[in-house]
Amino acid sequence: MGKASTRAGSVGRSVPRLEGAAKVDGRARYVDDLSFPGMLHGRTIRAPHACGRLRSVRLGPGGLPLGLVVVGPRDIPGDNVIAVIEDDQPALAWGEIRHAEEPVLLLAHADREALFAVPAEVEMIPGAPVFDPLASPRVFKHIRIARGDAGAALRKAPVVVEGEYRTGAQEHVYIEPNGVIAVPENGGITVHGSLQCPHYVHKALCRLLKLPADKVRVVQTETGGGFGGKEDYPSVIAGHAALLALKARRPVKIVYDRAEDMRATTKRHPSIVRLRTGFSRDGALLAIEAEVVMDGGAYVTLSPVVLSRGVLHATGPYRCPAVAIDGRVVMTNTPPNGAFRGFGAPQTQFAIEAHMDRCAEQLGIDPVKLREKNAFRPGDVTATGQKLPKDTSALPVLREAVRRSDFHRKRKAWAGTGKGIGLALFFHGSGFTGAGEVRLASRASLELTAKGARILVGSTEIGQGTRTMLAQIVADTLRWPLSAIEVAPADTGLVPDSGPTVASRTCMIVGAILQRAARELKHKLGRLTPTQYLARHGALVVTKQYEKPAEIHWDEERYKGDAYGTYAWGCDVVELEVDPVTREVRPLKLTAVQEIGKAIHPGHSRGQIEGGSAQGLGWALSEEVVMRDGKMANAQLTNYMMPTTKDTPEFDVAILEQAYRHGPFGAKGVGELPMDGPAPAVVNALRHAGFDVREVPATPERLLKCASR
Ligand code: MOS
Repeated sequence: MGKASTRAGSVGRSVPRLEGAAKVDGRARYVDDLSFPGMLHGRTIRAPHACGRLRSVRLGPGGLPLGLVVVGPRDIPGDNVIAVIEDDQPALAWGEIRHAEEPVLLLAHADREALFAVPAEVEMIPGAPVFDPLASPRVFKHIRIARGDAGAALRKAPVVVEGEYRTGAQEHVYIEPNGVIAVPENGGITVHGSLQCPHYVHKALCRLLKLPADKVRVVQTETGGGFGGKEDYPSVIAGHAALLALKARRPVKIVYDRAEDMRATTKRHPSIVRLRTGFSRDGALLAIEAEVVMDGGAYVTLSPVVLSRGVLHATGPYRCPAVAIDGRVVMTNTPPNGAFRGFGAPQTQFAIEAHMDRCAEQLGIDPVKLREKNAFRPGDVTATGQKLPKDTSALPVLREAVRRSDFHRKRKAWAGTGKGIGLALFFHGSGFTGAGEVRLASRASLELTAKGARILVGSTEIGQGTRTMLAQIVADTLRWPLSAIEVAPADTGLVPDSGPTVASRTCMIVGAILQRAARELKHKLGRLTPTQYLARHGALVVTKQYEKPAEIHWDEERYKGDAYGTYAWGCDVVELEVDPVTREVRPLKLTAVQEIGKAIHPGHSRGQIEGGSAQGLGWALSEEVVMRDGKMANAQLTNYMMPTTKDTPEFDVAILEQAYRHGPFGAKGVGELPMDGPAPAVVNALRHAGFDVREVPATPERLLKCASR
C-alpha cells in the first residue's frame, strides 16, 4: 500500500462502477432471480372501490388448491400498521376502506398459476369518495412559513401578478417492480428485497410482527431503480410477504407485475399552487404569497415531509423580503402518494418558475434579467431566515446556461416559428430537512481488511452509483487505490443504520461520515499496513455518527432557520417544437447547468442529470396518470407514456463545482436536483411558442384546449 499514496486519486474520475461488470454479465441477482427451498408465491387481494366499508372477502366458488395459505388481519401478530410517520395505514384493511387496491387479504401457494387462478370476491358497502383535493375534509399536515408582512407588501406593490399552477401525479417506472422474499429463520424473519431503505423496512416489520430487532433482518437485493418508489412502499410488500411466510413457515416471494405495481403503489403528489407576487416597477421582488395544496391520497405515509420540502422550495431561488407560504397536504380516496425524486420541490418550483415568466412579461422585462435581478446571492436570507452560504450558485448556473444555449439569440429569432425556448432556475436542499439529520443520527462504519477496508452502511445502490461513490471517497481519504475498498451488502444484520437512501443525502451526509471514519482508521493504522495491523492488534472497525455542523440551527415550531445544510443549484434551458396540427411537442435540446459542489464521479453525476432531466421531461409532456373512480385507468406502459430514447432530445450537461465546506471533497447532493427544472422550462418554452399552459403534463389534448397566444 506504501506506493499508493503517490497514485492519482479516484475522486473526480469516472472509474468503472463497482458492480457494473456483474450487472452486464448477469451475475447480479435481482429479487426475482432468487429462490429458496420450499418457497411459495404470494398474492394480494385488494379492495375494488375507492371508499366504503368492507363487507366480506370470499374465496371460490370451487375448490381451493391444496396447501393454500390465507392471511387476514387477525393473523397479524403485532400492530396492524405500516409504521412510517403517523401509523394510520393498515397492513390489511378490515373496517373502513379508503382507496381502491387497498390490501384486504393475502394468499400464498407453491404454484403461482394456481394461486392467481383462485377466484376472490371482495364485497363493500360503498361510501362517498373524495377525489378533488380542494374539496377534501381532511388535512394531513398544514405548514406556514412567514417572513415580514407579505399582505401589506402586496397592497403597496406597484405590480402584482397572480396565477394558479397544477402538476399531475407521476409513476416511477423503475425497471424492476417492487418485490421481496420473506424467509422465516432464527425464530424470526429475513426479508430480501428490491428497496432503498433497509432500516425503514426493519422498523416496520418489528412493529407489524411484534418481533425484537434482532429477530428481523432486511437484506437489499440488487435493485433496478427506485426514484423514491422504493422508499416507503417496500414496508408494505415486505410486511405482506413476512405475514404469509410466518404463517406458512416457508419462504414467500411477492413480486408485482407492472400493472399491479402501477395500480397499487405510490405516485408523485399532484399539486395545486396559487401565487401572488408583488414587484417594484423595475422588477425587484417585494412579496410572495403562495398557497400550496398537495394530494396525499388515502393515508399519511410520507406526505408531511413531502409538503415540508415543497413549501421550503416554494419561493424558488429568489430573495424576497416578505413571504407568506401556506401549505397543506390533504386526504383523497386514491392510493397513498409518496416519495418521488424531488419530494415536493418539483411541484412548487414548477409553479414559481412558470409564474416568473408571466411576471417578466407583465413587467416588460426580459425573463433572464428578471431572474438575475432577484436570484439568491451568497449571504442572502431565505424565507425561513437562513443566511445562504458562500457556495450559493444561482447566478453562475443561470449565466452559464444562457450562454451555452445561445438563449437570447434563439429567443428573438424563433418568434412565430412554432419553435420555443424557455428556461428555469432552481435549487434543491441537500440532505434531510431541518433537524432531520440530527434525528436520524446516521452511523457508518469502516472495517479493516487484509486488502484494505470494507464500507458498512445501510445506504443502497439503486443504480445511481452509491457503492462506487462511497468507495472513491474512502479510498482518496485513505490515499489508497480504489481496489483496496469493498462495500458490504446493505444487510441490517451486518451494517449500521446510515439512514435512508433518499433526499439527495447519501454522498453529502453519509460520505462525510465515512470520510471521518477513514481519517480515524488511517490514524489508528499509523505506519502499519492492514495485514500488519490485523496481525498485531486484531480486528478494527471504526464507526462514526453524523455530527451537525455547529452553524446549522433549525426551529421546527416556528419553521425558522437553516432548512438545509446547503443547496445545489441548476438552470435548464429547453428548446422545443410544437406540431401546428396535432400539438404534439417535440423537445429538441435540453441544456442543464447544475452546481453540485463536487462531482465525485462525473460520469454518474452526469447520468443523474440526464436521467432526472428525462424523467422531468416525461412529467412535463407525456406522463399522465389517468384516474377513474380512484383507480389508475392506464396502468400499463402502452398508454402511460414515459419518454423513450427516441423522445429524449440532445442533452448538453455542464457540471459546475462550488465546494460545500462540510461535504466530502466539497460535494453536495445531485439525486433530485435535475427533476426540478425540466417541467417549468418546458412550459416557458411553450409560452414562447405561443401556448399559455399552466399545468403539466402539457399533453397535446391540453394544448389544444389552452388559449393560443
Ligand atoms: Mo427520495 S424521493 O427522497 O427517495
